[in-house]
Amino acid sequence: MNKREFVRTLGGASLAALFGEDLWAQVTAQEPAQIARDEAFWGRIRRQYVLKPDYINLEHGYYSMQSQPVLEAFIGHVREVNREASHYMRTRQFDDKNAVKSRVAQLAGVPAEELIVTRNTTESLDTVIAGFDWHAGDEAVMAAQDYGAMLDMFRLQARRHGMVNRVVSLPMDPQSDEEIVQLYEGAITPKTRLLMCCHMVNITGQILPVAKIADMAHRHGVQVMVDGAHAFGHLAFAIPDLRCDYYAASLHKWLGSPLGTGMLWVKRERIRDLWPVFADLSMADDDIRKLNHTGTHPVHTDLGLSDAIDFHLAIGIERKEARLRYLQRHWTDQVRGRPGIVLNTPADPARSCGIANVGVTSMAPAELARTLLERYRIWTVAIDGAGVRGARITPHVFITPAELDQLVRALGELTA
Ligand SMILES: Cc1ncc(COP(=O)(O)O)c(C=O)c1O
Repeated sequence: MNKREFVRTLGGASLAALFGEDLWAQVTAQEPAQIARDEAFWGRIRRQYVLKPDYINLEHGYYSMQSQPVLEAFIGHVREVNREASHYMRTRQFDDKNAVKSRVAQLAGVPAEELIVTRNTTESLDTVIAGFDWHAGDEAVMAAQDYGAMLDMFRLQARRHGMVNRVVSLPMDPQSDEEIVQLYEGAITPKTRLLMCCHMVNITGQILPVAKIADMAHRHGVQVMVDGAHAFGHLAFAIPDLRCDYYAASLHKWLGSPLGTGMLWVKRERIRDLWPVFADLSMADDDIRKLNHTGTHPVHTDLGLSDAIDFHLAIGIERKEARLRYLQRHWTDQVRGRPGIVLNTPADPARSCGIANVGVTSMAPAELARTLLERYRIWTVAIDGAGVRGARITPHVFITPAELDQLVRALGELTA
């Protein structure tokens, strides 16, 4: 990003003013890997957030809080929409929403005509799963480590249409991408129509070789739907790099937008065949907006999304990715291989980023998470399923190595 872009407005306020021109000049002179460990820089970012002093929050994977500038802009939108009420809804709403959607599409590297802003990944992926034209005997492929809501939605289609779900189980430390590709390929039959895979598995942080999975599936005539709930705003990529057919994400996770913002991208030629969950017959069958008729909804969340994009761009996705990977490796490198500790995250740095999961063999996951909070004031979430037993650790970019060292100390004491 050049300086002019950086100085672009965030709800009217200059981003240079937010971070300081000197700091910005210093930052742009450094590579992402260098800036990842520059605590002065991340300290400045941290000041843009209001944190609770009661605990160290290592559970930003559920919902990453908005920065103060984004939150204040969002509150401004709430006030403005409320003040103008139906006049706003009948006049400016749709143009504003279109402008936001175009910005999300630009960020994702896809045409705006192939993307809709939704409430979250669940709405996005369920729109595809429920909108697919299933027939009895059709098959879908997915992994046990996929998100429960989507697995349930596939189970519902099986009950309703008599389609069949084939579920693979992902190895934690594959020898190669091909091992993962072959695992999925082994579940494909001539009846398979759709394959779902995560870009980043939420319970382990494992990054999957999505483009290679998609190429393999396409050779078999199978469409590919990617759950990018945790990857968007976390990893530097453009959706076309992944060569899939559908991509969904939650923007209130790593993009830091207001709660209740997500997106769905559908490859142009796949739009026509999807049945909308909410009917809107004013839209052509090949118009993606047919999937987005969700009625009157809090439009201010969409408006706040634009401010979140500004803030996100100011930090820069390469810097964010480098910082998140650095933080994860900072603590996992200290505990991997220690007696009594199980890391439920790939050892290969390229196969994970900010998310990791740690288990203590002598403790149930719920007990570990409870003890971390009660004894060490560290907030995490227990994961106990699909072969993964531990606490998921998801630091935000502004979490410090010193805070992660407290986790390392806690794990040391719990396994002593
Ligand atoms: C991999 C994955 N998919 C989907 C979801 C659902 O996201 P949301 O609750 O924002 O719809 C999550 C939530 O954590 C997730 O981790």
